[in-house]
Amino acid sequence: MMENFTNLAINPTKMYGGANGNKIGIVYKNETYMLKFPPKAKKNPALNYSNSCMSEYVACHIFEALGFETQETVLGLYNDKVTVACKDFEVNGFLLKDFAHLKNTILDSEQNGYGTELTDILNTIQEQRLLPPDRLKAFFWKMFIGDALLGNFDRHNGNWGFLVNATTGEAKIAPIFDCGSCLYPQLDDDKMAFVLRSEEELTTRIFVFPTSSVQLDNKKINYAQFLMETDNEDCLRALADLSGKIDMQKIKAIIEDTPSITATQKKFFTKIIEVRKELILDRALAHHRSAAMTSKRGLPPYQ
Ligand SMILES: Nc1ncnc2c1ncn2[C@@H]1O[C@H](COP(=O)(O)OP(=O)(O)OP(=O)(O)O)[C@@H](O)[C@H]1O
Ligand SMILES: [Mg+2]
Repeated sequence: MMENFTNLAINPTKMYGGANGNKIGIVYKNETYMLKFPPKAKKNPALNYSNSCMSEYVACHIFEALGFETQETVLGLYNDKVTVACKDFEVNGFLLKDFAHLKNTILDSEQNGYGTELTDILNTIQEQRLLPPDRLKAFFWKMFIGDALLGNFDRHNGNWGFLVNATTGEAKIAPIFDCGSCLYPQLDDDKMAFVLRSEEELTTRIFVFPTSSVQLDNKKINYAQFLMETDNEDCLRALADLSGKIDMQKIKAIIEDTPSITATQKKFFTKIIEVRKELILDRALAHHRSAAMTSKRGLPPYQ
């Protein structure tokens, strides 16, 4: 049974930004949740609203299964429309400050806070004084690998960040949020079935798009190509580390148990994640491991 959010109390003091759809603060089980409504599906006229709520729910649960602290999500109806409720994590005096805010504090940064050039992001991580750079760098790359697995095309600098408490001076990495652009939210059931029938359609969605929001030389990163070619040791360590945490049985169970999911969506999500894992992550990892063996270079200690 799906939850029904239609008649819950609204918290009018809660207002959320973001460009992809309307949002309201509701009180559900005595806590505030951000209720996210799906935006119009601009890229698919056959689909009235995008499936981003389904993507948000499934992708957040998979991030959680991979060991990330992640916002809690619940699918439910609001006036017959499927929406996703995201538990508000701005509690106990902690407020969200996104990475773009932190990046603006770096005075010699080449780009502005929202610039996603990789070297500029890594430079900010190194220069900032909020959290230990090594911890933040390890998090950034692990999130990048999670996004690669789930095909996220929208992890811009406003879609990850920190919870800070101005009174106590505490700061921590915010839970993973805004995963609405993972798992192909513009596809309707017919298109999913079509992609499942066509090897070419499927592999295009692995090797050509979606790309990452992070850019290399002003070009959005192609996940498969980048992971094969990079010699960034922090990235390769994250690749090895996260790959060891992917449990396909767990992921299948999450998909299977998702409320209101259709049989085609189940098949599509399962297949696309299996194939992305194999052709993007496993392939890159095998390549770097064999390169490390032949060159005997001191690459990260893969377990
Ligand atoms: N769980 C949460 N708790 C508190 N605030 C949140 C939470 N999730 C998101 N927010 C805030 O609400 C804003 C909008 O949410 P979100 O990023 O999910 O929406 P969006 O419209 O998909 O954004 P985008 O413009 O990146 O596509 C976020 O930028 C963040 O400031
Ligand atoms: Mg957002």
